Amino acid sequence: MKVVIVGTGYVGLTTGVALAYLGHQVTCLDVLPEKIDSLKAGKSPIYEPGLEELLAQAEKNLEFTVQYEAAGIQAAEVIFISVGTPQFADGTPDLRYVREAAESIGRHLGDRFAVIVNKSTVPIGSGNWVGSLVREAYRSKNGQKIDDRFAIASNPEFLREGSALHDTLYPDRIVIGSADPRALNVLTTLYRPILNQDFPAPEFLPRPEGYSAVPMVTTDQASAELIKYAANAFLALKISYINEIAQLAEKVGADITQIAKGIGLDARIGARFLKAGIGWGGSCFGKDTAALISTAGEYRLEMPIVSAARAVNYRQRVWVVDKLLGQLKILKGRTIALLGLAFKENTDDLRDAPALDIARELVQRGARVKAHDPVALENARQYHAGAGIEYCDTVEEAVAEAEAVILITEWPDYRKLDWEVLSRLMKTPLVLDGRNFLAQEQLESAGLHYLGVGRSDGQPAMVGRLAAVPLGE
Ligand SMILES: NC(=O)c1ccc[n+]([C@@H]2O[C@H](COP(=O)([O-])OP(=O)(O)OC[C@H]3O[C@@H](n4cnc5c(N)ncnc54)[C@H](O)[C@@H]3O)[C@@H](O)[C@H]2O)c1
Repeated sequence: MKVVIVGTGYVGLTTGVALAYLGHQVTCLDVLPEKIDSLKAGKSPIYEPGLEELLAQAEKNLEFTVQYEAAGIQAAEVIFISVGTPQFADGTPDLRYVREAAESIGRHLGDRFAVIVNKSTVPIGSGNWVGSLVREAYRSKNGQKIDDRFAIASNPEFLREGSALHDTLYPDRIVIGSADPRALNVLTTLYRPILNQDFPAPEFLPRPEGYSAVPMVTTDQASAELIKYAANAFLALKISYINEIAQLAEKVGADITQIAKGIGLDARIGARFLKAGIGWGGSCFGKDTAALISTAGEYRLEMPIVSAARAVNYRQRVWVVDKLLGQLKILKGRTIALLGLAFKENTDDLRDAPALDIARELVQRGARVKAHDPVALENARQYHAGAGIEYCDTVEEAVAEAEAVILITEWPDYRKLDWEVLSRLMKTPLVLDGRNFLAQEQLESAGLHYLGVGRSDGQPAMVGRLAAVPLGE
């Protein structure tokens, strides 16, 4: 099928490359020339495992452009809108990119029937709004109505950055919402290889064992739009819930990792998204929970559970700093090293990254902050130059003279660090593992004082050990 993807970011590019790999003819359109130039040169503008390899394999089915005229919208059977939907300060979604994309599509539609698919996460009712923008743009350009030569569908995206291609080729489900049966037919055909799982898996992304046909949920537009928000809010509150319990676990001398195991084995609860730590971040959970609350507000509804999940999450970021203060007593003038800047491993995305809030809090309290990240340093230097953080190219550089290290991101490489060597570079051998990710015993045998999350560091044995550690005061 002929497909145009409008907005070539984490979602659009992944979708475009995956559909091209499955045999569709895909044109990816973006307004940023540097992104398109990079893609034309075979280089992904974002860090996403496997993306460049699949880009090379699907090359013959892919085109990239910055021009709507050159994107082949007139001939397209499916046009995805996957532009960003950031939030305004009050939590409402900023839909200006969706508006621009819809109007530009409307101006370029031809005679062929096309399905316009909202893949961006948009508030309930946006499908209707996009339809009216397309109709109006077509009419004002052509001086006549477009009739029913297009249909609108909502097809929310559930991929996770860091495993975006895997999630696109092997999703848990595909959700399509539309009032128009033609849209459902076209999208069923588009996604058939994924639904049936009858495509040859890329050698570097094997099909998970036991994984077969993918369920498709076909529904009305509003339900599809709400499914996306409800799913993200649920995941966000699951993490916040375990973080709330972690706070209590720490007070009562319990271990949150054992608690998560004990409750996660209950099939009604499930083990995933029960890892205590410094909480969620990224481009979606924060803005989508805010949008859900703001949408509910339009109907005079409150969302107390979602609001609490947000409050608990953002409290975790300050809590980390308070925990460090509890150990160091004074933060002013101290050097603190952050391991990881990206909001999660395997991505260079810094949107709503906990590391940035934690660094800001530390800087405000007078600390010197150094930070390392395996792939997000370039973005950090470009977009957060004024954050008061010293960006370090190596872990050694970051931890040199540090009086504490905070592990922020679960980068697999951080598990392989040689703490014998690192502890000798540090001024005080104190590590706060913000994700309960490092091997506690290994760090302790290297002479480090280890603090986790929700794991009762205040036990008498720990206090005794701490007394032996020079805190460099
Ligand atoms: N990133 C994720 O993990 C994820 C997961 C699920 C859903 N989503 C949703 O998908 C949408 C896209 O997210 P993203 O992370 O890919 O965003 P992104 O910022 O990485 O990419 C958006 C792209 O759209 C381009 N763009 C903006 N206006 C345009 C226009 N008028 N025409 C053409 N291109 C235009 C931008 O230049 C940018 O490259 C958002 O609504 C987001 O909430 C994101």
